Amino acid sequence: MLMLSNISVSCEGSRILRGVNLTVPEHSLVCLMGRNGVGKTTTLKTILGLAKLDAGSVKLADAELTGLKPDQRARLGIGYVPQGRDIFPHLTVWENLKISLVVHGAKANGQVDRVLELFPVLKEMLSRKGGVLSGGQQQQLAIARALLTDPKILILDEPTEGIQPNIIDLIGDTLLKIKKEGKISILLVEQYLDFCLGVGDSFYIMDRGAIVAEGPIAHLNDDIVKKHLTV
Ligand SMILES: Nc1ncnc2c1ncn2[C@@H]1O[C@H](COP(=O)(O)OP(=O)(O)OP(=O)(O)O)[C@@H](O)[C@H]1O
Ligand SMILES: [Mg+2]
Repeated sequence: MLMLSNISVSCEGSRILRGVNLTVPEHSLVCLMGRNGVGKTTTLKTILGLAKLDAGSVKLADAELTGLKPDQRARLGIGYVPQGRDIFPHLTVWENLKISLVVHGAKANGQVDRVLELFPVLKEMLSRKGGVLSGGQQQQLAIARALLTDPKILILDEPTEGIQPNIIDLIGDTLLKIKKEGKISILLVEQYLDFCLGVGDSFYIMDRGAIVAEGPIAHLNDDIVKKHLTV
């Protein structure tokens, strides 16, 4: 489905990614984990077309993404929920959602209803400004907005960061539901171990710009956690 092969990226003369290989198979939820500053968000940027590659290639299904612009990639089916959510605080919830429909030329009706079913709280808040929502509600809005682009793959960057436990559970349930529907694969960047254990099928761990461990989520044992994830 999504395949990163031998990706290297530099920024201002220093290497940030070193030969990253990562695959997200169809129907699966893959967790990309690692401490702060190891290159997780940069890896996502290489998928979105926001980072310049020194080497390597990114493929979505059979399409080669390398060389395509971010908007072209998005239209091929990449839904992105950025770290820190990045919703429009001065637009209403409805306007935040509509923007994504406009950008992707999708038809409003059925799509919005379907997505709002996943996040009932948003339905009650359509006319509120995005900025007055709680962090958890904003995160749900950001996920809803990404789903409205009708993605083949949904990419989330630390969606549990700063979110209260009951909303984290809700987000986890929603990701599992989306995965079960079978149309969308998920790449989840996450530092919250228990969340990954609850929703993931497989994991990759990154350290200083390289993948240092990977496997089915059941193989993520204490040794690996101690070595690569605990601070
Ligand atoms: N635009 C940039 N210019 C220079 N260095 C950068 C730039 N963006 C990121 N870096 C550096 O690249 C490294 C990886 O950053 P990245 O944001 O990918 O890490 P991360 O794993 O997502 O961290 P976090 O968990 O804190 O979000 C860091 O050392 C960071 O300082
Ligand atoms: Mg990051």
